[in-house]
Amino acid sequence: MSLFDSLPSEVSIYEVSPRDGLQNEAAQVATHAKVRLIEALIMSGLKRIEIASFVSPRWVPQMADGEEVCRMLGKHPGVQYTALCPNGKGLERAIRAGVHEVAVFISASETHNKKNVNKTVAETLAAFDEVIEPAVQRGLRVRGYVSTVWGCPYEGEIDPRAALRIAHTLLERGCYQISLGDTIGVGTPVQTKRILDLFLSEIPQEKLALHLHDTRGTALANVLVGLEMGIRTFDASVGGLGGCPYAPGAAGNLATEDLVYTLEGMGIKTGIDLEKLWMAGQIAEAIVGRELPGKVHRAGVRSLRC
Ligand code: HMG
Ligand code: MG
Repeated sequence: MSLFDSLPSEVSIYEVSPRDGLQNEAAQVATHAKVRLIEALIMSGLKRIEIASFVSPRWVPQMADGEEVCRMLGKHPGVQYTALCPNGKGLERAIRAGVHEVAVFISASETHNKKNVNKTVAETLAAFDEVIEPAVQRGLRVRGYVSTVWGCPYEGEIDPRAALRIAHTLLERGCYQISLGDTIGVGTPVQTKRILDLFLSEIPQEKLALHLHDTRGTALANVLVGLEMGIRTFDASVGGLGGCPYAPGAAGNLATEDLVYTLEGMGIKTGIDLEKLWMAGQIAEAIVGRELPGKVHRAGVRSLRC
């Protein structure tokens, strides 16, 4: 492989700020503010947005208003709304709320999984019996997350073969895509290449996505490795908002502005207007009441020509 030999003409960006971004906020964010953020993200051209979590409100109070978010959102043909969903109760809520897609989530690390969903990995896969197939039967698409692939805040390095086994199971059950999570942002490019070498030897590239937290500033470097190796879907969060409440040290996600700036600057189409995305980042910052970490956001760069 030599650098930038096989860049695509376009990629798909999957926006997670309304869910992964806001789930970690200490102060409750008003439902209308979430809706305002989502509408601004849609205005920027984003077409795949994770808007809510139908998890236990006792575990993640910030996401308790998922139904209300869905009810208040305007109709936007061509935009696909996704919600996290851990069990049958979550799926019932998701169906009633009218999302197009649900996302199941599980960790490659037993300890993180237990802290996140109070179940072993095996029990979590069993609980997905209530979600994946029934969702597919109801006409919903199902995405799968495998977390802590690059490392776990409790166990350290994780054998990527454990994550690969889980990914196979999720695909066999009916997930259309697996998003591989660097949940705490520890990954480096050589490690990313090693992980993707393993996954791509068994799973087609279009069934994989990267979900990179940017705790240590390595997310974009890992995106470049993914791009070069054939990955065409990247998760990101406007302004770099984000973190997992059950993964200490999980700082922001890769900032969508940084991703769009880099990709578009390399001639890879994202379908996103950077200036409008920058404005969505301003809204996100006003909502959480502090400066967000995304580099393009902080630099105030609103277009490729600035
Ligand atoms: P539990 O306490 O073991 O389960 O939680 P339970 O079945 O005993 O339920 C406890 C209570 O929650 C009951 O209510 C249930 O009805 C209720 P009670 O009878 O006590 O009043 N409940 C629900 N309520 C609403 N919606 C539901 C639901 N399910 C149960 N769907 C459970 C197990 C999985 C529910 C809990 O651990 C949970 O909700 N965990 C979610 C944790 C979470 O959302 N973490 C953050 C997302 S993951 C992430 O950020 C990583 C990711 O970004 C990728 C990456 O970065 O790697 C995706
Ligand atoms: Mg995450």
